[in-house]
Amino acid sequence: MQQTDFLVIGSGIAGLTYALKVAQQFPDKKILVITKAAADETNTKYAQGGIAVVNDLEHDSFEKHIEDTLIAGDGLCNEHVVEIVVKEGPDRVNEIIEWGAKFDKEEDGDYKRGKEGGHSESRVLHHKDVTGKEMERALLDAVSKQKNIELNKHCFVVDIITQHHLGYLITKSTPDVECYGVYVLNLQTKQIEKILTKITVMATGGNGQVYRTTTNPFIATGDGVAMIYRAKGRIENMEFIQFHPTALYEPGVRGQAFLITEAVRGDGGILKNMDGDAFMERYDERKDLAPRDIVARAIDSEMKKSGTEHVYLDCRHFSKEKFVEHFPNIYQKCLSIGIDITQQMIPVAPAAHYSCGGIKTDEWGRSSINNLYACGECASTGLHGANRLASNSLLEGMVFAHRCFVDAAERIKNISFRNDIPDWNEAGTTKPREMILITQSLKELQLIMSDYVGIVRNDVRLQRASRRLDLLWEETEQLYESTSLSPQLLELRNMITVGYLIVKGASFRKESRGLHFNTDYPGKSELVQNIVL
Ligand code: FAD
Ligand code: SIN
Repeated sequence: MQQTDFLVIGSGIAGLTYALKVAQQFPDKKILVITKAAADETNTKYAQGGIAVVNDLEHDSFEKHIEDTLIAGDGLCNEHVVEIVVKEGPDRVNEIIEWGAKFDKEEDGDYKRGKEGGHSESRVLHHKDVTGKEMERALLDAVSKQKNIELNKHCFVVDIITQHHLGYLITKSTPDVECYGVYVLNLQTKQIEKILTKITVMATGGNGQVYRTTTNPFIATGDGVAMIYRAKGRIENMEFIQFHPTALYEPGVRGQAFLITEAVRGDGGILKNMDGDAFMERYDERKDLAPRDIVARAIDSEMKKSGTEHVYLDCRHFSKEKFVEHFPNIYQKCLSIGIDITQQMIPVAPAAHYSCGGIKTDEWGRSSINNLYACGECASTGLHGANRLASNSLLEGMVFAHRCFVDAAERIKNISFRNDIPDWNEAGTTKPREMILITQSLKELQLIMSDYVGIVRNDVRLQRASRRLDLLWEETEQLYESTSLSPQLLELRNMITVGYLIVKGASFRKESRGLHFNTDYPGKSELVQNIVL
């Protein structure tokens, strides 16, 4: 058993930013960060385009960034939260620069600012086309210098500990559910360990792996959301899954799809269909730089018309020098599969990319469970509403990590450890006989979600998805009850829960808004509401 005042689950931008701040404020306390994979294997590492921030008040303004965020969010953003994130953003970006992150600069020393869909100004700071890798590197470097942070890799958090584990019946209406710590599967020893905490921060990232095609790495399985839902915490707006319009189309490649950043369209890349027609002008006056929901639906419609699995992104008119300077990683990747972007168009298709909903929090990152905070992609803070504005999530991760830190630093004074928490009980379980039972269910889940709960939905598809998920759930629970735990089984169980929450949210929302498009209800409802499960 371990005991730590501050526990952080996740080593992406949100978890590490929070950990650094707490560690600096409380040099005599240990901060424990745990992650189920390698330290840098996070969605953060794969971020390409950059971080949206207003740091040039001569050409841009907070009001414009706020307005762009609200337009993308399609009526569902919490305006107060949008203002907080936009206005506190520059301070947080300055902090990560102080911790060592480098963003590209012009020759005169000013920052280079990219433009992406839905932005009225160029305001995206970036490090070539590998911004996330650079930010994650800087954060991990800073963490390694901070003596009171312990970072434990390959430790899979199974569940948070609440009164439920003390034998109390907890329901959605039980007041004051409290978090006392977590049970963790140590992937090296294969033992389930108990960690007691005063304050826990969930920073477990997104859930793209629930879909067959996603830009997200394998860790993005929605574990935090599933854990909080099991613990009877509040989950919000899960139906708003953002599909990135332009993932590289590589037939036969499973798992993570390579992203072609929206910044390529920001620099002049043009989407074309099989006939070479620049179709976006038929869908929106902002053409290729319309918000993502509009571009992804337009591509989906073009693909359905032509019966193909992709469209093209045309960059042949770029100067090679310029393209390589801004997008060296994309240039090399395309070349590695035989595409010279100066000669050939890039085949692209939409892929699940970002979860706008998640663990419901207030403006300080507090979840509905006492002593448990959430920040980063697993949280639903109210910033994104029905659709996230491009490059707002790295910013949100840092702003809310800071806010969790400010609130937790006060709250910790009034919390003590519980010493009556039982150990994990594995009695009655046996080793799993066949991994195929897990891998096949995962494939089924991904197919169900992609075919029935994708970019365009309707009631019949949602009902089908729901029935099929019920069966998968039943079978997986049987496995969970009877076999010893493995990360594959835990992730499958969590992803089925997340799939269920997406379907539930989508079924409750009888309208089309932002990223949720249901052909049975093509218009917006007058009732503007968040769906809380
Ligand atoms: P992550 O960085 O995903 O970190 C999650 C952490 O939680 C990981 O360490 C993981 O191992 C850990 N974890 C999860 N479950 C468990 C568990 N059960 N036990 C223990 N540990 C666990 N956003 C932008 O703003 N700009 C961009 O340019 C941009 N580009 C993107 C490009 C790609 C390809 C992708 C996939 C996303 C992009 N995004 C971008 C989105 C952005 O990168 C993410 O939303 C953000 O990085 C999420 O950060 P996070 O800290 O919340 O989670
Ligand atoms: C991209 O670079 O296109 C991704 C940006 C984002 O998801 O915010």
